[in-house]
Amino acid sequence: MFVGAMVVIAVSVGAAFVVCLSLMASEVTQTVRYDDMCAVGDTCTLSVTVDEPAFSGVPVYAGYQLTKYYQNYKDYYPSYSDEQLDGRSFTVEDLYSDCYPQDPCPTNGSDSDVSECLDPCGIVYATRFNDTFSMAYGASATDGMAWVGKAEGDAVDWTSDGVAWAEDPEDRFNPSLIEALGDEAEPTMAWMRASGTPSFVKPYRIIEGGLEAGEYTLTVGSEYPVDAFGGTKAFVLTTRDPTRPSIVALCIGCLVSLGLAAPLALLCTVTHIIKPRSSKYTMPISAMASVNDTSDVREVVPPGDVDSASSRQPESAPPLAAPVSEGGTGTGDTRHSC
Ligand SMILES: *[C@@H]1O[C@H](CO)[C@@H](O)[C@H](O)[C@H]1NC(C)=O
Ligand SMILES: *[C@@H]1O[C@H](CO)[C@@H](O)[C@H](O)[C@H]1NC(C)=O
Repeated sequence: MFVGAMVVIAVSVGAAFVVCLSLMASEVTQTVRYDDMCAVGDTCTLSVTVDEPAFSGVPVYAGYQLTKYYQNYKDYYPSYSDEQLDGRSFTVEDLYSDCYPQDPCPTNGSDSDVSECLDPCGIVYATRFNDTFSMAYGASATDGMAWVGKAEGDAVDWTSDGVAWAEDPEDRFNPSLIEALGDEAEPTMAWMRASGTPSFVKPYRIIEGGLEAGEYTLTVGSEYPVDAFGGTKAFVLTTRDPTRPSIVALCIGCLVSLGLAAPLALLCTVTHIIKPRSSKYTMPISAMASVNDTSDVREVVPPGDVDSASSRQPESAPPLAAPVSEGGTGTGDTRHSC
């Protein structure tokens, strides 16, 4: 039975590994770094060659990647007021505590006028990413590319609907308040959801119909400075939904826990072999009725005698007529340490 369990575990780990590898292969990402080609304040035109057939016919997420950007810094990520961004009432004190370490109002105290305060306050909103992107079919350097139903120079059809986590526009922020500030609702919400890692990809648009392989023109309005902190900016196309936890990350987590579980299972097996459970049943007879695996009943096996132990179980295992003490008060220890 334990050897069987080990086989099951080994097969599961192997299957999980294969599933993980295929999922990783299905998450395709193309990155176009542009901070070194497009200075802040410029509008730049870049050629992008999509050579991934994986982008065809599936939703493709267009976004941006920043590196060395510590959104997870403890004075950074909590610095915004969800009351303000959701249109609920707030006081000067609320803003001082929500938007710390920023000073959101001219004076701190209950007598100040809340209407004089920054709206919205907070470092997260103040530092929102503001580069803009547009994408068109074809590149000036090439001609004659043919797309079904698209002409060279046509804009790639994409939308910002759905780039925020589903609950953000519903429960956390009021999209029309953000639009009234002159910002795009969902990409701003995606920015407000602080990343836990200093290198991150945030979604900007979704190309529902995917992208055929070919040449494209990317127009970048570069506004966001990254030189000051030594970071980089890139435009990213990916099949991975950035508003969901990464399947790859889940897979790695799963493999790590399996990797921890396997040695434990091995330890249990070894413990079982060295110090096997007693053959005495102490279960009530009613419970015995559901026990049809007589291989649970086994004699003491000397250490190191694993294979012969499991192979001679059937003939050496006593039938169900083994001693039973009703009520579970018997002397035998039916529980194994694992
Ligand atoms: C603002 O006032 C509150 C109490 O009214 C106080 O706890 C807080 O430290 C003050 N913040 C600043 C930045 O002065
Ligand atoms: C873009 O964001 C940066 C950093 O917050 C800011 O300095 C700059 O003024 C912004 N530019 C525009 C046009 O909003």
